[in-house]
Amino acid sequence: MPATVVLGSQWGDEGKGKLVDRIAEKASWVARFQGGNNAGHTVVLGERVLKFHLLPSGITREDCALVLGDGMVVDPWVLDRELNDWVENGGDEPRGKRIFISSRAHIILPYHTYLDGLDKKIGTTGRGIGPAYADKINRIGLRFAELDEADVEIMATRQNAALAAAGCDQRVSAEELSENLSWIQERFSNCICDTGILLDNALKLGERIVLEGAQGCLLDIDQGTYPYVTSSVTSRGNAGHGAGIHPGHIDTVIGITKAYITRVGNGAMPTELYDADGEHMGSVGHEFGTTTGRPRRCGWFDLVVMRHAQRVNGFTEIALTKLDVLGGLDLLKICVGYELDGKEIHEMPATASALARCKPIYIEMPGFAQLSTAEWLGVASKCNADNIGFKGLPTPAQQYIKTLEGLIGVTISSVGVGPDRDATIDRV
Ligand code: IMP
Repeated sequence: MPATVVLGSQWGDEGKGKLVDRIAEKASWVARFQGGNNAGHTVVLGERVLKFHLLPSGITREDCALVLGDGMVVDPWVLDRELNDWVENGGDEPRGKRIFISSRAHIILPYHTYLDGLDKKIGTTGRGIGPAYADKINRIGLRFAELDEADVEIMATRQNAALAAAGCDQRVSAEELSENLSWIQERFSNCICDTGILLDNALKLGERIVLEGAQGCLLDIDQGTYPYVTSSVTSRGNAGHGAGIHPGHIDTVIGITKAYITRVGNGAMPTELYDADGEHMGSVGHEFGTTTGRPRRCGWFDLVVMRHAQRVNGFTEIALTKLDVLGGLDLLKICVGYELDGKEIHEMPATASALARCKPIYIEMPGFAQLSTAEWLGVASKCNADNIGFKGLPTPAQQYIKTLEGLIGVTISSVGVGPDRDATIDRV
């Protein structure tokens, strides 16, 4: 059976975790293929709010096996904490049973986080992601496969030189490194394996795999708003590759987009709002980073961004999230192009400086009423139970969805109207 890819089409935080949690019901495997604990996924199950950074969102489905794939950078201490929290909150123990860490994945070590802590330009999450990927590209990184082959003396010397060169006061010792590596082996040796082979075998057996992206297209190291991006390829081209399976296995690519747009960290966002509408999106949408708690910058839906994401990823369908958040705004705006230095453009400029000069060109649409979370959940339940799809939504909300769909040119297969797992309306 083929694989489904779930990707963010904006600057991350589009609601991938909630969708993956939903579709994982019909999957046997959920695999992450890039990034690390810079990601933050929230899954709401009734009263329970679960936040994950490393664990794939399929964790909530106990029949689902989980993979931290080849293309990831993994902080073992964070993973250990997340697994312990999961078990302490009544979950099964996945270690040795259903969680598998790629032997090819790179390890985030303390010195990576020390170095990342010095960032003042990008506004990183400070989790060591960039420095760990830099070591990977420099071919000096440590992978799970080589845990017992590492020369800790050489590592400590090199890491201390890098810390000194960067102006960081912290230092590491060979002894401490040696202890760290033994601890990682002790905690995870029963999970480390060639996960690409596991996934390939699962596909041969006809099992469904979900490849769960982290961050979003505009944070992609090659296709994003460089340099204000993360350090991995967040897009479709890397989904199979970073999981160790070929792209021919992928038949469905779901692009997740909010009904508006948000960004955390630095870098231009042409539709950013500094007014009451932006404040509404931030407060009603609880727009605070899952990983760092930083407030997210909010703005109107940006078709230029979406067009770019569609070109790079070729989404086969779109999941629109957080439509409910727009409830209560009199007028809705959609950015359909930018004005750059007196010219109208419809594609993302390549430089951060040009993007910062772009002024959004909007079309406007009527808004719809604000409902409570429980009321929206009721609307979603009724739409799904009556099998009427989006027709159960207020007319202006339906118009908004239809307009976006027409502009993007891809079917919107579901619409999220609240944080709960069931607050999602499927298209009929
Ligand atoms: P890094 O991935 O920690 O190096 O951060 C680089 C940029 O990506 C910063 O602007 C972060 O705020 C942003 N970023 C990284 N992960 C996420 C995410 O999961 N959601 C939203 N932004 C993210």
